[in-house]
Amino acid sequence: MNRLKYTSVLLMAILLFLVPPLKADEGMWLPMLIGKNYEQMKKQGFKLTPEDLYSVNKASIKDAIVSFGGFCTGEIVSKNGLIFTNHHCGYDAIASNSSPENNILDNGFYAKSYQEEKPIKGLFVRFLVRMEDVTPQVMAAIAGVNEKDKAAKIAEVTKKITSDAIAGTSYEADVRDVYKANQYLLFVYERFNDIRLVGTPQQSIGKFGGDTDNWEWPRHTGDFSVFRVYADAANKSATYSVNNKPYTPKKSLPISIKGVKNGDFSMVYGFPGRTDRYLTSHGVNLAIEKTNPTTVKLRDIRLKAWKEEMDKSVDTRLKLSSLYANIANYWKYFIGQTEQLKRLKIADEKVKQELEFTQWSAASPVNSQLMDSYNKAYKAYEPFAVHITYINEGLLASSFVRNINQVASMLKAMNTRKEDAAFQAQMKQNFNSLVDNYQNTYSEMADKKIFAQILTSFYQDVPKSQHPKFISQILIDFPKASPAESFNSFANNLWENSKLVNPEKLSQFLLNPSSDVLEGDLAYQYAKNLVPQEYIKNNFGTVLADFQVEKNRLDNLYLKALLEKNKGVLTYPDANSTMRISYGTIQNYSPKDGITYDIKTTIDGMIAKYQPGDDEFDLPKSLLEAYNQKNFGQYADNGTLPVGFISNNDITGGNSGSPVLNGNGELIGIAFDGNWEAMSGDIAFDKQYKRTISVDIRFVLWCIEVLGGAKNIIDELDIKANKLPVPKNKLIMN
Ligand code: ARG
Repeated sequence: MNRLKYTSVLLMAILLFLVPPLKADEGMWLPMLIGKNYEQMKKQGFKLTPEDLYSVNKASIKDAIVSFGGFCTGEIVSKNGLIFTNHHCGYDAIASNSSPENNILDNGFYAKSYQEEKPIKGLFVRFLVRMEDVTPQVMAAIAGVNEKDKAAKIAEVTKKITSDAIAGTSYEADVRDVYKANQYLLFVYERFNDIRLVGTPQQSIGKFGGDTDNWEWPRHTGDFSVFRVYADAANKSATYSVNNKPYTPKKSLPISIKGVKNGDFSMVYGFPGRTDRYLTSHGVNLAIEKTNPTTVKLRDIRLKAWKEEMDKSVDTRLKLSSLYANIANYWKYFIGQTEQLKRLKIADEKVKQELEFTQWSAASPVNSQLMDSYNKAYKAYEPFAVHITYINEGLLASSFVRNINQVASMLKAMNTRKEDAAFQAQMKQNFNSLVDNYQNTYSEMADKKIFAQILTSFYQDVPKSQHPKFISQILIDFPKASPAESFNSFANNLWENSKLVNPEKLSQFLLNPSSDVLEGDLAYQYAKNLVPQEYIKNNFGTVLADFQVEKNRLDNLYLKALLEKNKGVLTYPDANSTMRISYGTIQNYSPKDGITYDIKTTIDGMIAKYQPGDDEFDLPKSLLEAYNQKNFGQYADNGTLPVGFISNNDITGGNSGSPVLNGNGELIGIAFDGNWEAMSGDIAFDKQYKRTISVDIRFVLWCIEVLGGAKNIIDELDIKANKLPVPKNKLIMN
């Protein structure tokens, strides 16, 4: 063996020894089928049985997991229906219960008794009762049905399946497709509508680091809030009533404060919203080049205008902060996604997979043509992609447009049912809530500015050949030196003269609504061009619909073929807001050469980031005092207080608030974010970089107990303590 060869073999041996094999932690698995992953989970350190995770016959962990409001996840942590979720999931509930006089968003709040808990209008949670594979029924119903009539047929058969499933119960049910309509699953849920806010940290803790730290590790955000499910005397779902009682759940999660270390088993159980892991290279390129930059630009316009107003008064800040946070969250998301799709060369990766797929399918006349067909479909769609992004992110972002059109269609309905007094009364009520909702996020200065800027930007970015007439007409009717000035002048005119744009005037108009006034109003003249269905028909013909139908058809065939190609390999379906389990380990990572990120952060790092009076990095006095006194209670770890940790679990938006569980099924943290280096994760999972960011449960409990003084909440929990309990009769050693 020559020396060089010897050295390289030695090097290889050392490398193999040092670099642990990357484990497959990709996958958001369906709880019903988790048994198939069981051996792998056990190897990684899971100690319970598949039935402990999901069972329809006995209480299992799934009974402690809720879909929170349909957009987040929550977990039941006490026998009295207490829920933990993220601060950013409770944000709207918290902000809308805040006023300059009783500012719980800024000051935090912990109920010291049930009476102090705050009912949240419109908030609900859903428990999964069971799920079932209903593919045979659906497939039988659509056998032989032509492409055009399929959607209607599917709607018909799923309606029958769901109504049979819930007959005689108070449950609700959905049928959802997975693997791009190659499989259909029935989900039966129990929904609760009386949900109350129990506690929240100060937003300087709950949103510590703000947009600067958002989507990034190392992180020091205390992203948690506390709610409770209420039920009637029979422990059944009921609308809000003072007589409702805390709900007694089938299952609640025990909590471990023993701490975590690199390599420990970890599992996230929740409701991931949407992934697009089978998107082709065409879709990736379209996102990078057109849709993402357009989305970011349009969100930027809104954020800047809102921020300017929010900085002027606490009132406006409280009013707009929830909307602002939502738009800002995905503004940064799309910046990160674009950056990482490029850095990780995801399109090249996909092209490779697609070539390999086409080679593999050479013998199949259908499959071997799939990539060509994708190419053709995208070619036809691409020239309209920016314009289409402008509809939702731009033209319809002005809420007066949506409101006026809603009012118009309600008035039309009222006119056709003049004799129906109950209907008329219902509509009047709907008018009130429409105006209320409008008022809740209305900011005249910002709204007007946003409206004019978006039109100007539309005029510059959308190909001239696609400009709808009603937009070009504005330049004719309001001639000025530049399009920007024309659109400005149009905006000024609308806000001055319309009876429908300003919520107060709109409310006045709705007291005695007249179709003539509506028809004659300039804002209505504008808005009626923007009824989405009509707009699309008028400006795109069938391009958009054709693309969607064709893409669905191709996705369905592609997935079917991929499942066949990967026979014998466990394959998980894309996220679709249904319940999933993701398992892996607490895992550090290297963001770039020469740097390793630790698995955890502590309060020391939080203090190091502290900037008094800053929008994003301020901290409450109570925290600073407790820190100075090293008052960490039973939650201390090595003389400091843990704040966050990372694991390689596969999660996405919707998982926010999900429990992170150890191998014993005990709660160790609450998942709240992804990391910058893997922002392309919804399109391609990167084993090396993808991490889940969670708030350590010890930090959560410390905030509640030490900063909030809410011993009442701590006493409800089932805490598996750090140290062995001190024996009652202490042995005296001599
Ligand atoms: N990125 C987090 C998520 O999507 C939300 C964080 C909210 N915080 C914020 N600064 N906007 O789950």
